[in-house]
Amino acid sequence: MHIAIYILILTILLVLFYSKQLIAFIKHRRNLLKHMSKIPGPHAIPLLGTTYQMKWRTRDLLLQMRGWGVEFQNKGYELVVLWLGPHPSVVVISPDIARAILESNDIITKGPEYDILMPWLGTGLLISTGEKWRSRRKMITPTFHFNILNGFQAVFDHQARIMMEQLETYDGKREHFDIFPYIKRCALDIICETAMGITVSAQTDHNNPYVQAVQSLNILAFNYQRRPWLWLKPIWYATGNGYEYDASIKTVSDFTIKVINERIRDFEQLGGWPEDNTKQRPFLDMLIEIRKEKGLTYEDIREENVCPIHHTSHDTTAAGMGWTTWCLAHNMKCQRKLQEELDEVFGNSDREITVDDLKKLKYLERCIKEALRLRPSVPHFARKVEKDVEINGYTLPKGCSIIISPMLMHFNSRFHENPENYDPDRFLEDNLAGKHPYSYIPFSAGPRNCIGQKFAIQEEKTILATLFRKYTVTTHIPYTDNLPLPEIINRPSNGFPVLIKKRNI
Ligand code: HEM
Repeated sequence: MHIAIYILILTILLVLFYSKQLIAFIKHRRNLLKHMSKIPGPHAIPLLGTTYQMKWRTRDLLLQMRGWGVEFQNKGYELVVLWLGPHPSVVVISPDIARAILESNDIITKGPEYDILMPWLGTGLLISTGEKWRSRRKMITPTFHFNILNGFQAVFDHQARIMMEQLETYDGKREHFDIFPYIKRCALDIICETAMGITVSAQTDHNNPYVQAVQSLNILAFNYQRRPWLWLKPIWYATGNGYEYDASIKTVSDFTIKVINERIRDFEQLGGWPEDNTKQRPFLDMLIEIRKEKGLTYEDIREENVCPIHHTSHDTTAAGMGWTTWCLAHNMKCQRKLQEELDEVFGNSDREITVDDLKKLKYLERCIKEALRLRPSVPHFARKVEKDVEINGYTLPKGCSIIISPMLMHFNSRFHENPENYDPDRFLEDNLAGKHPYSYIPFSAGPRNCIGQKFAIQEEKTILATLFRKYTVTTHIPYTDNLPLPEIINRPSNGFPVLIKKRNI
């Protein structure tokens, strides 16, 4: 009896003490529910939300998401709400709304979906918001100037050649091999050299723990994002996910911090970088050089240069190159057309690929763009709504997330005829006339668009040109057997199993 009274008094005291927060919370939830009730979506139940009916296996989940996208697009809706537990995520399926959101200078904060990435990516350009993001963006943009990118061309070419040496062993073989790890290691070597000025030789040292750690971080972060019960730390660790995640972060961070510290030490000892007009300095050196002028600390540089640029670049470009190769292996007509273009520019020479050559490779560029439409390397990205906003007649309330999904947008048959078909000529200028610019957004758009898109296209063009100059790539594995798994990066469910054969030119 006594205990019951104590508990009652304690409860009343607690309610009184937290009453202000409680009232604010109830008001917030009511506002959220009021506005969410006007947005359609698959059935949701209290607490578990839509997750109770989400498919467990990633490949099934992908098909389910596509199905929902098509269903609501066909009904003429522009937004769909998915309840991830008690948290509403509003998926944008109309390019008009995508434009309003991506061009907004207010909705620039990344969604809570990225919280899991914080310990990994820090709060540098990729994840930061507000003034910090604005000043970082301004500071970093000049380091992606085309003159600087041109200076990296020799690195792209050199690493592409190493990749060809690695592939030599598969020439003419009858058994498929997965070309994806080769592409990834090449992309990793490129980013290490261009971002940090170091050679990690991932291409020749195949068991690179860094690549394996990044792979595992991608998978774990995706699981975390779509399974709300993992948001509870005890479950996150009890399932082993947390420990694996922490260990992978340590591998990635130890490696990059070591490199940065060495560069900073060199810069301090030399009292500045020596003049060398023959070689482009890596991003890291540029940042160290402008550090004082821009008011950066060494900690800022650690945060900025390494993790985001590393992560975003090597995985996204590798996925882009892999899917382009996969699409071309299934569309021999396109592959032949590409090889004709390559032969016109290079003849049968084995010479280096220059920036001027790349400008002539227009069909190759269309092939890459079309693969990014069908299989965008970043399948979706998110924003957090920090105060109620009105967009095209909808109120998106504070506390919800907005998901922009290039993957769903690129499959909307209202904007892309026969969306399942691989057709690089969609990107011919004449065919682009009148197209909604936000119906194709692999690099996002607006003030927070991808800062590295020119770098990505230049790198992809160089490596793919080198590959298709030398080899014809085919596969007997059906196109549809290889599903894009929408983790942070659109990962192929079966890698990219292909056959290669040297060309006679
Ligand atoms: C095919 C390759 C790539 C694709 C498809 C891609 C796609 C994207 C997308 C969709 C975003 C926006 C994400 C969001 O708003 O949440 C983004 C942002 C970003 N990307 Fe890329 N990316 C690629 C390659 C690269 C490369 C090569 C680099 C650097 C070398 C890079 C650096 C960044 C950075 C720093 C941001 C954050 C920009 C900001 O928030 O202001 N990306 N990228």
